[in-house]
Amino acid sequence: MKLNVNGQEHEVDAPADMPLLWVLRDLIGLTGTKFGCGMAQCGACTVHADGVAMRSCITPAVALAGKKITTIEGIGKDGDHPVQRAWIEADVVQCGYCQSGQIMAAVALLKQKPQPTDADIDAAMSGNLCRCGTYQRIRTAVHRAAELTKIAAIAEEVQHVA
Ligand code: FES
Ligand code: FES
Repeated sequence: MKLNVNGQEHEVDAPADMPLLWVLRDLIGLTGTKFGCGMAQCGACTVHADGVAMRSCITPAVALAGKKITTIEGIGKDGDHPVQRAWIEADVVQCGYCQSGQIMAAVALLKQKPQPTDADIDAAMSGNLCRCGTYQRIRTAVHRAAELTKIAAIAEEVQHVA
């Protein structure tokens, strides 16, 4: 099957029922996406399909042929995405295991709701578990990422007008 991952076409030879998570990790070599529960319960394996957050542990890769898949490796370059910058500023990460899933969920949320409320954040992120309990810092970082995105958009507009 052919898969488009982070803008690159990959030809992979995988069984029809192989979950996307294992195709990404074992066949394509993108190990940023993590295995947590394998049952759509923890969010560690979150990636995007056409910009929408989804659980790669339960979705057969074959179902995603023709879609644009984005993994944590495809989010920003050199940590310059507003969500990555906000995560660093808020010092969110503890052990780090859940964090690629958290970041993928946050990026998808901000795409849908550029200025989310606390309730929006809690609703969108509640399926992403963190055993280290970084939830408060995640919330702070999502708000900060919204701010950074807004500032970047204004700066771009000003540059356009000048
Ligand atoms: S590993 Fe996919 S939701 Fe837990
Ligand atoms: S940072 Fe350790 S599980 Fe979330």
